[in-house]
Amino acid sequence: MKSPIETLGSNIITSLGNENDIAKLSRRGFLAMTASLASCSAAAPLKDTPPAAAVKTTANPNYRTPPVKGPVPRNPDQNLSNNFAKDSGITFSRVLVHGNYVAITFDDGPHPQNTPRLLDMLRDRNIKATFYVIGRSVDLYPNVVRRTVAEGHEIGNHTHTHRLLSKLGNDEVRQEISRCRDAIVRAAGVQPRTMRPPYGGMLQAQRELVYNEFGNPCILWSVDPLDWKRPGAGVVSSRILSGTTAGSIILAHDLHAATVDAMPATLDGLLRRGFRFVTVSQLLAMKVESATAQAAAPAAAN
Ligand code: NI
Repeated sequence: MKSPIETLGSNIITSLGNENDIAKLSRRGFLAMTASLASCSAAAPLKDTPPAAAVKTTANPNYRTPPVKGPVPRNPDQNLSNNFAKDSGITFSRVLVHGNYVAITFDDGPHPQNTPRLLDMLRDRNIKATFYVIGRSVDLYPNVVRRTVAEGHEIGNHTHTHRLLSKLGNDEVRQEISRCRDAIVRAAGVQPRTMRPPYGGMLQAQRELVYNEFGNPCILWSVDPLDWKRPGAGVVSSRILSGTTAGSIILAHDLHAATVDAMPATLDGLLRRGFRFVTVSQLLAMKVESATAQAAAPAAAN
């Protein structure tokens, strides 16, 4: 008998196999692929003092992360290709795909209240996302990461202490990546398959080092609502809705309550426009080589 997770996995694969709905990349979306590298995120690096119980949230303050008992599920993406050939590049800010697929990503968690609240929203809509977590926070809130994996989401490496990698030497980069990876493995029993550099700042040589030694391509983004500047939930939502096209990688931060507040309208809006959500690894596995079959057309199906 299949476990719920296995069933979930098969459902994802089945939906990925549906080729009826071939997406077209809009010209605007294609040009946007060089979008800003400015921010992931400007959230201040965590201080050495753990935030622990000091974190305040206005929403759902009584939420308690439900304990997830073992055995720890396998990474739901394990049965998809992990062969990111070197010649296909090791940095992605969007992916050329057939179909209205997008990947939404949440950085700088886990957060003890905001992340579980977001997980509830994603579960209600059967949406799978990718979480670029900070290793030190994973050590503080391992149960949140465990639940994230149990519900079919992907965990990516966002370094252990959220330092700007381009200022670090190779050994420090290795430490930042390996310590975060180890924290994820300890918490949830899965290996991260991709990484995202804090602030988007990473030298080409460092990207090659991390790809060669850890097997993780560097994932940036093509849609940035600048939610870390706290523009308000409505603005976050409208920026994501106006910027998203097929193949987009959307950047957001579950560290911020207002970003999570923006998600119901954002996710429902994207669903109404015909977008389907996959994790970053799934999006990479769907990569096509050229946009020749993708004439300009609006991504919206509604
Ligand atoms: Ni970040």
